[in-house]
Amino acid sequence: MSIGIIGTGAMGSTIARSFITSHYQGQIFVYNRTLEKARALQAAFPDRIVLCPDNLCVARSSEIIFLAVKADDAGDILRTLTPYMHADQILLYTISAMPIAEVESIVPCKAVKLIPSITHFSKAGALPIVFGTRITDADRVNISDRLCAIGIPHPIAEKSIRIYADLTSCSPAFLADWLQQFTLAAQEKGVDRKTAEFLLGQMVYGVGKLLIEENLSLEDIIRRVAVPGGVTTAGLDAIHQSAQGMLQKALDATEARQNHIAQYGHA
Ligand SMILES: NC(=O)c1ccc[n+]([C@@H]2O[C@H](COP(=O)([O-])OP(=O)(O)OC[C@H]3O[C@@H](n4cnc5c(N)ncnc54)[C@H](OP(=O)(O)O)[C@@H]3O)[C@@H](O)[C@H]2O)c1
Repeated sequence: MSIGIIGTGAMGSTIARSFITSHYQGQIFVYNRTLEKARALQAAFPDRIVLCPDNLCVARSSEIIFLAVKADDAGDILRTLTPYMHADQILLYTISAMPIAEVESIVPCKAVKLIPSITHFSKAGALPIVFGTRITDADRVNISDRLCAIGIPHPIAEKSIRIYADLTSCSPAFLADWLQQFTLAAQEKGVDRKTAEFLLGQMVYGVGKLLIEENLSLEDIIRRVAVPGGVTTAGLDAIHQSAQGMLQKALDATEARQNHIAQYGHA
């Protein structure tokens, strides 16, 4: 099945790169409003990326179409493409604030909402997906198989999308921000930034392996490192005191922002 991507910004280009460097052998049809971005992607993979002159060309050339634009731009694009789309095509879009029922009311094709993550750049990370009402059982298998090329598909109910997006898509930035603060704190203790980033990066990679490959739980890791009365426990106590309720506040903030975007757009 041919793949097309509308919008080759951060997510669109990540999805394209992940497919190209996976077992997917075909070409990918792309278009981006600012053509330079799509041209840069095409220059990186000249044999695999086909630069389309407009979104219509992407829609006509592709059986699976990824729509990776901001919420404000999606409605107009879909309304323009609708007369040229058909029932067997599958539209996968990345806008969590846009209900799947709204998309299905515009397009004649099958629709799937997915919450991508920067982690797919390295073909890792979970990929929450919401299947639309026109998706058959066979489509589910087909779509999940294809998405394995970029991450680990994880079907969810649409009503729960916010928390799943927080867990998989916002979390790389949350974690990176925390690590950056760790780096700054280490700098104050005399470690240069590059060294601190390298050490923390290796640590995160190792913890990821413990969780995924060694099946350790978060609790296991904490218990094995933070012995009662030890220095790690002293550090954890200090973190807990100053970060009380921090993540609950972050999750409330993402929910409030999503509600705002759904109502007023990105303004
Ligand atoms: N970044 C993430 O980690 C992430 C995670 C999960 C979900 N998402 C969602 O994924 C969507 C895309 O996010 P992003 O971070 O990739 O945003 P982005 O970097 O701004 O990319 C959006 C791209 O869409 C292009 N575009 C806008 N209107 C277009 C049109 N009419 N035709 C063709 N291309 C058009 C933009 O082109 P220009 O260059 O002209 O602006 C831009 O390159 C958003 O809805 C976001 O909420 C993002």
